Amino acid sequence: MTEQMFTEQPDSEARRHAWVEAGTGWGARATQWAYLFEPYALPANHLLFDALGLGEGTAHLDIACGSGLAASLATRRGASVSGLDASANLIDIARARTPGGDFRVGDMFDLPFEDDCFDVVTSFNGIWNGCDEALRETHRVLTADGQLGMTYWGPFERMGLLPYFAKIIELSPESHGSSTIELGETGDVVNAMLERTGFEVQRRGTVEVTNEWPDIETAVCALASAGPSIPAIEAVGYDVFCEALHDVVTPLHNPGTGVRISSDLGWITARPV
Ligand SMILES: C[S@@+](CC[C@H](N)C(=O)[O-])C[C@H]1O[C@@H](n2cnc3c(N)ncnc32)[C@H](O)[C@@H]1O
Repeated sequence: MTEQMFTEQPDSEARRHAWVEAGTGWGARATQWAYLFEPYALPANHLLFDALGLGEGTAHLDIACGSGLAASLATRRGASVSGLDASANLIDIARARTPGGDFRVGDMFDLPFEDDCFDVVTSFNGIWNGCDEALRETHRVLTADGQLGMTYWGPFERMGLLPYFAKIIELSPESHGSSTIELGETGDVVNAMLERTGFEVQRRGTVEVTNEWPDIETAVCALASAGPSIPAIEAVGYDVFCEALHDVVTPLHNPGTGVRISSDLGWITARPV
């Protein structure tokens, strides 16, 4: 190892590296994510927008907006939409879906928006256990009577995608596997995260979402596009990854109805105090 490898990076440089790296991973198969994976969250998008009363004239920001499907729904409800994601490739698709939106590539821990400028901020599976700084930033950009809504994975026993997560943890280097597990624990800690970052929890529940694919090959292609797959693909190569995922998906395939995998997402709404 060279001396340079031991040189500590300044904090800001390390943080920039982290979000740029996350965006590169999530954007590696951007069109597959947008068109084969992202629609699974539609029931959660609608439920949260209803719970938050999002409608005509709402100034809305979607954090970690991915390829912008949720933002496009918010626009159809009459909201004025902004979105932020670490992936430039996903933001390109969000802009194509909603040409009138204000979409930016950036870091949710350092939001490039003014104080007090949004009525509603959402994040669909974008803010996780350990992301307190993103909640503090959310608090800063929300108006005093604004609202936050977010979703996260529900309990493991209601997670149809668990065999996928188990396989990618098995294929990934150990450090990535443990961070994937920590992300899955958000439901246990979300109330405490919100309270210590200046929010009062209002409502909370779960919503069932379903990944639907016509065949095993399409399912594997979709699953390969999710960010947590990237460390596994880098570790074993794309072909071995696809073979392993093929085995995971095969028992979930029915020739008449294709691949249908249901999971619960947790959802929560909160107000700044
Ligand atoms: C699970 S995806 C959710 C995407 C979208 N909200 C959806 O529901 O499909 C997580 C997203 O978080 C983004 N992301 C990860 N780290 C980020 C960061 N520090 N700042 C902004 N976005 C980030 C990724 O690029 C990815 O699009």
